[in-house]
Amino acid sequence: MALPNAFRRTADLAIDLGTSNTRLIARGKGVILEVPTVVATQQTAKGRVVVAAGADAKKMLGKTPAGTEVIRPVRGGVVEDFEATEQLLRALLARGGGRSLLRPRILVCVPPSHSEVERRAVQESARAAGGRDVLLVASPMAAAIGADLPVQRPVGSMIIDVGGGRTEVAVISLGGMVVSKSIPIAGDALDEAISAWLRRKHGLLVGDRTAEAVKMRAGCAVLVDPPLITRIRGRDLAEGGPRELDIGSSDVCGAISDTIARIREVVLEVLQLTPPELAGDILERGVILCGGTARLRGLDQVLRETCGLPVLEADEPMRCVANGAARLLEDPALFERVVFQA
Ligand SMILES: Nc1ncnc2c1ncn2[C@@H]1O[C@H](COP(=O)(O)OP(=O)(O)OP(=O)(O)O)[C@@H](O)[C@H]1O
Ligand SMILES: [Mg+2]
Repeated sequence: MALPNAFRRTADLAIDLGTSNTRLIARGKGVILEVPTVVATQQTAKGRVVVAAGADAKKMLGKTPAGTEVIRPVRGGVVEDFEATEQLLRALLARGGGRSLLRPRILVCVPPSHSEVERRAVQESARAAGGRDVLLVASPMAAAIGADLPVQRPVGSMIIDVGGGRTEVAVISLGGMVVSKSIPIAGDALDEAISAWLRRKHGLLVGDRTAEAVKMRAGCAVLVDPPLITRIRGRDLAEGGPRELDIGSSDVCGAISDTIARIREVVLEVLQLTPPELAGDILERGVILCGGTARLRGLDQVLRETCGLPVLEADEPMRCVANGAARLLEDPALFERVVFQA
């Protein structure tokens, strides 16, 4: 028998540990911190110490002297550097006042495709950073809740989260994921495609931050009219010196088209695996597109044409997972239903 609400528990804090950005959510307060998932460390006599975490560390990317290392500890949605992740979470908990709670109970949003080992790595990082119990929820479930989809009802809801490191696609009904698929291809892969194209086509070497800026300023999944042009600086591969170049949106569109095709394919695969009754619901209700890459010009249009379905961009696309986690912290019955009691 289910317990009445007053006796049920959720968690004190939640964390959306994304490849690009990490959000800290507090029960009753919503998102209290949002920082780039970046840590800067320096080698000292005492070992590796953190010199910056979050936005300050991101500013140092590609600009550090010898002895300082800027790390992006999560890649493709998976924790790659356990120690740096723990240090980032520790800094976040300290900044967010999490330390005043005696060892908080923490809910962490993870990709459903995570292996047991990857899930444990996330749990261990959050525990080492100061958490007591660490519970997990599938990030597409949190995103669907954050986007106000009726996840508990017997209707199919589809969510597409295109973040920095991963594209997650899921169909949800009756509090569970009926079909889900993800690939480690999203915003970072678009940046890499732009860098590779600049190197190949223009002999220009640019850093990750410049490639990301090109994507934001002139990136598009379908041609835009009028075209956008952006001026960038990089290092000329042949001459070795700095060089400026104007890049147009049609070139960027071509440079990222293969990566966009991979994102389309995963959406199609999920649609093909969706049971017909649920597919009917999705056709009627549409699909929600979230994650930071949902902001790429024309991505919604490409997906609309791919699926032949209405695709709607979520209100706060980068915050869907975190907003859903915030709702879970407030709703013990829903929490009990969708959180893995790992
Ligand atoms: N206006 C924009 N146009 C294109 N891309 C954008 C825009 N704004 C943000 N992005 C991209 O969104 C990505 C970050 O999105 P988000 O914060 O949802 O990712 P994440 O949750 O950290 O990663 P993941 O969930 O994949 O692990 C980055 O790749 C960033 O470049
Ligand atoms: Mg994310």
